[in-house]
Amino acid sequence: MSVAAAGYLRIASTDTSAWMDFGTGVLGLMDAEREDASGARFLRMDDHPFRFMVEPSDTDRLLATGLEYPNEATWRQTLDALASAGHTVTAGSEEEANRRCVTAFATVDDPAGNTLELYWGRKLDYVTLRSPAGVKGFVTTFAQTGDLGFGHCVLPAPDIETATDFYTQLIGTGLTDTLYPPGMAGLKINFMHANNPRQHSIALFGGPHPLDIVHLMIEVQTLDEVGQAMERAKKAGVHFLATLGRHVNDNMCSIYILAPGGIAVEYGYDGLLIDWENYIPTVSVEGDLWGHEYNFPGISD
Ligand SMILES: [Fe+2]
Repeated sequence: MSVAAAGYLRIASTDTSAWMDFGTGVLGLMDAEREDASGARFLRMDDHPFRFMVEPSDTDRLLATGLEYPNEATWRQTLDALASAGHTVTAGSEEEANRRCVTAFATVDDPAGNTLELYWGRKLDYVTLRSPAGVKGFVTTFAQTGDLGFGHCVLPAPDIETATDFYTQLIGTGLTDTLYPPGMAGLKINFMHANNPRQHSIALFGGPHPLDIVHLMIEVQTLDEVGQAMERAKKAGVHFLATLGRHVNDNMCSIYILAPGGIAVEYGYDGLLIDWENYIPTVSVEGDLWGHEYNFPGISD
């Protein structure tokens, strides 16, 4: 296991202003107010210069997941292993690295076609979060071990076994657990952790998804802040994909809401932190302890 954290996401948006209004006004993230030649907008949740890059596009989808490596040597070893296994690894230019506020990065597609940006050396500016919605802080660090990443994302991978091997053998994730969701015959989700205590940083969903991401998750520190986000979302007329509930595996107590363009955002608290040394992967046949009643737009019961 060598990948340190899921550090950032790049999101394509047909309406970056709407995304920013949602990101700041509903999620409570902070506009990083970065200049960008391509017109991208940036959202921050902690002392990282940004966690979400929202880029103008004619489509709404996930563009890339930024994965952090702990140092240059581990990063180079990972790139070499990927190239040796026949994957196309493209080095990022200095200009593009500066845009991402990283020392260096390279791009590779996983076997399902999800684009990953592997980087090391994030350039922190230590600006304090000032949440426009009054969120006190997002859960992105753990005192004893450092960065937990922005949260987690779930990526589509119809051939889930091949994709899982790619992540566990080459990217450097560890398998945390597997879920066979009830009532969804044959569907499998593999949850994987990075080298930090967050229960999962990346999960693979064994099917396709039109937005190239099943959901992303960000975490606050209290149940009250989840409740306050619910109120902000209702007031803004945001679609609720799932009611409040608690997952079995990462213990996350959360809601799911849809961002402009349709990407699902899980907004939670109380996520499990794990000591991986003594952990044994598990298999679940239930997704939730309670709640999380889904309401997919355009689909009626
Ligand atoms: Fe999640």
